[in-house]
Amino acid sequence: MAAVALKLSAPWRCVQLRRFSSVPGLKFHTSASPLLGATVEQFEQAKSRLSSLKEDPGNEAKLRIYALFKQATQGPCNTPKPGMLDFVNKVKWDAWRSLGSVSQDEARQQYCDLIGSLVAAEGGSSAQVAATHAGSGTTTYETILVTTEDNVTTITLNRPAKKNAITPQMYNEIMAALDQAANDDSVITVFTGAGDFYCSGNDLSNFTNIPEGGVEAMAQQGGDLLRKYVKAYIDFPKPLVAVVNGPAVGISVTVLGLFDLVYATDQASFHTPFSQLGQSAEGCSSYTFPKIMGPAKANEMLLFNKKLSAVQACEFGLVTEVFPDSSFQSEVWTRLKAYAKLPPNSLSFSKQLIRSVDKPRLHAVNDAEVERLKERWTSDECFNAVMSFFQAKAKL
Ligand code: COA
Repeated sequence: MAAVALKLSAPWRCVQLRRFSSVPGLKFHTSASPLLGATVEQFEQAKSRLSSLKEDPGNEAKLRIYALFKQATQGPCNTPKPGMLDFVNKVKWDAWRSLGSVSQDEARQQYCDLIGSLVAAEGGSSAQVAATHAGSGTTTYETILVTTEDNVTTITLNRPAKKNAITPQMYNEIMAALDQAANDDSVITVFTGAGDFYCSGNDLSNFTNIPEGGVEAMAQQGGDLLRKYVKAYIDFPKPLVAVVNGPAVGISVTVLGLFDLVYATDQASFHTPFSQLGQSAEGCSSYTFPKIMGPAKANEMLLFNKKLSAVQACEFGLVTEVFPDSSFQSEVWTRLKAYAKLPPNSLSFSKQLIRSVDKPRLHAVNDAEVERLKERWTSDECFNAVMSFFQAKAKL
């Protein structure tokens, strides 16, 4: 088993994200950047960071962003020139056209540099900015975005090309961000996903990166990481909110039982395909799910892989409220900003009182679930299921 896994491991190794290269101040130049061609993930990250700008960057910058975006995604401008009276589109067309034959890779890099510069120029308070200054001594994140604004710390899972699947690096970064949020001045902490998914759960390539000690060592390391990860949610002292912007799978669903509020778009779904993958429940769901929705419904999800729609998840008590996708973001964030104005100590103490009743039990459940999973991860059932996933992908 280990030998086969090792043979398969190389193509599935986690993508190592290159750090952003940021340019202090705004520079609208087209010279080659030190990092030629940002990755698609860095590009997606830059797109998300654009929406976090507090100030309007001005028309010149906006035009440049537009042009670089078009060049990066569609290549050189070959569309017909808009008519003379179509002023806005003509200006946009001119900006795109002015990039000439700049390659899509180079345009992606310039786009990332420009947005990095704009964020840095705001001197922002967020860890996103820290991430652009690699080596500055501040916490840096590569797989998540962390912002703090209006008393809300938002942790955005940010591997949209992989549907925000969670790698070991991402587990560690989320724990660091939770620690940061627990100690910053924010009142509530929010999780959400970049792109069309909330999260596709554990990155299945974690199972094909076999360390020297073989699958037993992989299971031991994975178990230690999982135990710490779930513990971070159990012990988190402030109100924790999930803004579920799309489908959610695996551990991103199970830990929802440890959140204080779960808001979902009507496009979200909730799926825990553990037995399908030869695995077993985690995130304390073997305790929280039957408690929240009753054993009959919980068993359908945890044993028989039933996927819930957002409306069903709400009916069963896993989700607090479902919103139409078209108004999801505006309605949810308006509400969260209002909640974040409530007295912070009162909120935190009340949350801790509610949690304290179950806390020892949750830790015990976490330990038991991790022990079972360590056994599952070395089983043929799990190995075969993970290989089937990647073989099916390879055939597409
Ligand atoms: N682990 C590793 N890679 C994953 C992943 C996961 N959990 N979820 C998605 N990906 C990758 C896919 O392999 C694909 O990579 P590629 O572009 O290099 O081929 C990319 O993300 C996009 O996913 P894709 O499957 O093409 O999108 P989709 O919309 O057709 O399906 C999912 C999305 C999430 C339903 C499907 O990818 C899936 O079933 N993933 C596994 C989920 C899972 O079992 N999680 C663990 C639960 S314990």
